[in-house]
Amino acid sequence: MYESFFGFTEPPFTLNPDPGFLFLGRNHSKALSILEFGLASESGITVITGAIGSGKTTLVRHLLNTMPENRTVGLITNTHKSFGELMHWISMAFGLEHEGRDKVSLYNQFLQFMIDEYAKGNRVVLIVDEAQNLDADTIEELRVISNINADKDLLLQLVLVGQPELKETLKRPDLVQFVQRISAYYHLKPLKLDEARKYIKHRVTVAGVPRNPFRDEAVDLIYASSAGVPRIINTLCHLALTYCFGEGRKTVTVDIMSEILADREEHGLFGIGSDPNAEADLEKTGAMEVLRQHHMDRSKEKRLKENEFAGE
Ligand SMILES: Nc1ncnc2c1ncn2[C@@H]1O[C@H](COP(=O)(O)OP(=O)(O)OP(=O)(O)O)[C@@H](O)[C@H]1O
Ligand SMILES: [Mg+2]
Repeated sequence: MYESFFGFTEPPFTLNPDPGFLFLGRNHSKALSILEFGLASESGITVITGAIGSGKTTLVRHLLNTMPENRTVGLITNTHKSFGELMHWISMAFGLEHEGRDKVSLYNQFLQFMIDEYAKGNRVVLIVDEAQNLDADTIEELRVISNINADKDLLLQLVLVGQPELKETLKRPDLVQFVQRISAYYHLKPLKLDEARKYIKHRVTVAGVPRNPFRDEAVDLIYASSAGVPRIINTLCHLALTYCFGEGRKTVTVDIMSEILADREEHGLFGIGSDPNAEADLEKTGAMEVLRQHHMDRSKEKRLKENEFAGE
């Protein structure tokens, strides 16, 4: 809606995990290296955990686009509690026949599939996104399936990606065997302030606008109230651009951001400074001061309004 007003060739701040917008800051670069290392080392299990909205699926999509030729990849993303039959989902992920088949027949079919791929010189990779929804039994089942060898090579490489609950599940004593087979692990943290600035600029540039409409102080506020989580940053940037468009303004200033945040806070939609690491970061850069000022201004405004009301 505001795209042509600013000159964007595509919406810059959608919530899709679009790898075309991938920004490789420190954390995302590390996570990607770990994923690539896990795949290249052709051994064991790779696990990536990370906060909600931190960019895990975006990385997975990027990985899928850049996967070496000799990898046969299956992706499972629907891992809800009703997940049910693991072998059905695995078969679906690799496009294998699964209707009306029982578990044993599906298992045998998948085994044959892996052997055939191995014979062709291909590595079979199963990626499970949203893996925080898997229960311990299913994770253990995955381990057993991924433990099948041909000569000394493993036939299946497993990549699990999920929110922090996955980390908690993996601490269970009955998953020790699984954990011992994890050869590559990384926990993806939110962006730091300097990265958040670059992230916003990056998305604006990819969407075709060389002039960044976001003022630095406005970005500080966005960072402060998102604690560096990319999905929240996107939501706030989208709101800011929509607001500017409505007002016919081309620059997102601290005042605009402050107004948007006040509105969201009033409806309890964002907690500010919930991440102590983000807060420490903000103290160093002075952004915390901007945030405090923002809070003070809002309380002052509120008091004035209340007094006005009381005086009527
Ligand atoms: N490194 C990045 N570069 C560009 N965009 C990113 C990056 N990280 C996250 N985003 C954006 O943030 C939003 C959330 O990302 P994504 O869906 O990948 O998060 P997630 O960690 O998979 O979330 P969930 O925990 O809900 O599964 C998307 O719009 C995505 O494009
Ligand atoms: Mg995701």
